[in-house]
This record gives sequence, structure tokens and C-alpha cells, in this order.
Amino acid sequence: MPRGGYDASCLDRLLQTERLEYIDRDDGVGARRQQVLDALDWTGRIFRNHEKFAAIALDLVADVPDPRILELGAGHGGLSRQLLHDHPSARVTVSDVDRVSVDALSAGELGIHPRAQVRELDATAIDAADGSFDLAVFALSFHHLPPTQASRVFAEGTRVADTLLIIDLPRPPAPLHLLRLATMLPAAPFIPFIHDGVISSLRSYSPSALRSLALHADRNIEIELRSGLTLPQIVIARRG
Ligand SMILES: C[S@@+](CC[C@H](N)C(=O)[O-])C[C@H]1O[C@@H](n2cnc3c(N)ncnc32)[C@H](O)[C@@H]1O
Repeated sequence: MPRGGYDASCLDRLLQTERLEYIDRDDGVGARRQQVLDALDWTGRIFRNHEKFAAIALDLVADVPDPRILELGAGHGGLSRQLLHDHPSARVTVSDVDRVSVDALSAGELGIHPRAQVRELDATAIDAADGSFDLAVFALSFHHLPPTQASRVFAEGTRVADTLLIIDLPRPPAPLHLLRLATMLPAAPFIPFIHDGVISSLRSYSPSALRSLALHADRNIEIELRSGLTLPQIVIARRG
């Protein structure tokens, strides 16, 4: 399936790539990978994305007294730190598929936080029992996965948690997308964060693609989509 969905235009179908970001690679680009993660954490703090994403997540468990939250693809852990800061009794499982990130998270403040547990978990095959969490959240990571694996996240996230929240980059209409890529491309060879940003943009899924991925995972999964041209794309998924 094209990243723009089955109904994507010809131009939209050209605006995609299978090229990997530094974040996805383990072939000696560790320093660049870390630079991208640091930049994501920095922008998350400066533009208050950690706060905004935590507010969206906590709103979904507002009725649960001591919510059990699973963060998948936590990377630098900024969102988990914010969740623990903003909710006095939430218990947060902070996870990532990448061993180096998990080791860094364990060695930091999340590794000793009394309400946090750090684990190595793959969002496409989560090592946890059904219904272990009230909420699973996967932020700015979904586009890293090709369609078959991305669909597995819908199946697994809604299996282990009552609600799955995916927050990811929006996929603009193709002409605007082209314009956005043109402004970013000149800096991509020099700045790892922009390099990964260009690839992320090309790999972002459209609302139509997200609906198809959820349906493919399980026809009982119901999704609510909130999207904007520049705002992150929000997907809330539950089993009906
Ligand atoms: C761009 S970073 C996002 C980090 C952080 N969530 C944020 O909002 O800035 C993507 C993260 O997803 C992780 N990731 C990629 N594939 C994954 C998978 N199958 N399961 C869990 N995490 C995965 C990567 O290791 C990386 O830490």
C-alpha cells in the first residue's frame, strides 16, 4: 500500500521512500542517531511537544485513578518523563526496540523513578499479556515502520492496552508536501535531524492509509483520527 493510501494521487505515490533514517540504522551511524534523538528531545521541550503529547495521553485516561501507561518507541524518554511529572500516580512502562536507547533510559532518571519501568519491547510484537495497560502511546515513531509492521502495531497496541494512541507526522497534500521537502532538502546532507526529517516526511502515512492499516490489523478496531496540515496526526484506536 502506498504511504498516501490506496486512493493516493500519482504525485503522492512518488513522494515516498524505503530509505532508512539514521534512527533506524545500526551500521556505524550511532553518533548521528544520538544527535537526532537529542534534537527530538530538545524540540520536544522548546516547542512543548512533550507537554502537549502528555496532555493528549492523560486526557484519554482521565477516568482511570492510577493509569498504567506503556510508551512504545520512547527513544530519549521525554514523553514518559512528562507523563510521570504531570500525573501523580500514573505508572509508566518506558520502552524501545533499540537496545542502546533502552540502556540509556535505564541509566537515566527513568531507570530509578519509583513509578517507571524501562523495558526493551518491539511495538509490532509486544511481550505483555492482553489488557496489561490502560493506554499505549507511540509518538513520532509509527512512520518508521513499513505497512505490514505498522499494521501489527494496531493489533498489538489494542491487544495489550484498552486504548492505543499514535501521534505522528501529518502527510500533507502532495503539492504542499513537495514544497515542504524542497525547503528541507538543501540542509539534509549536513544536518542529521533534517536528513531524518526528509525521510520521515516521505514515510508519513495519510489518514486513508491509517484507516486501511487498522482495518487490515483487525476489523473490530475502531479508530478516531484528528489531523491538521502542520499539527501532528493523532490516532486513537480501540477494539469495538
Ligand atoms: C523518531 S524516534 C521517536 C522518539 C520519541 N518517541 C519522540 O517522540 O521523540 C523513533 C523511535 O522509535 C523506535 N522504534 C522503531 N521501531 C520500533 C519498534 N518496532 N518498536 C518499538 N520502537 C521502535 C526507535 O528505536 C526510536 O527510538
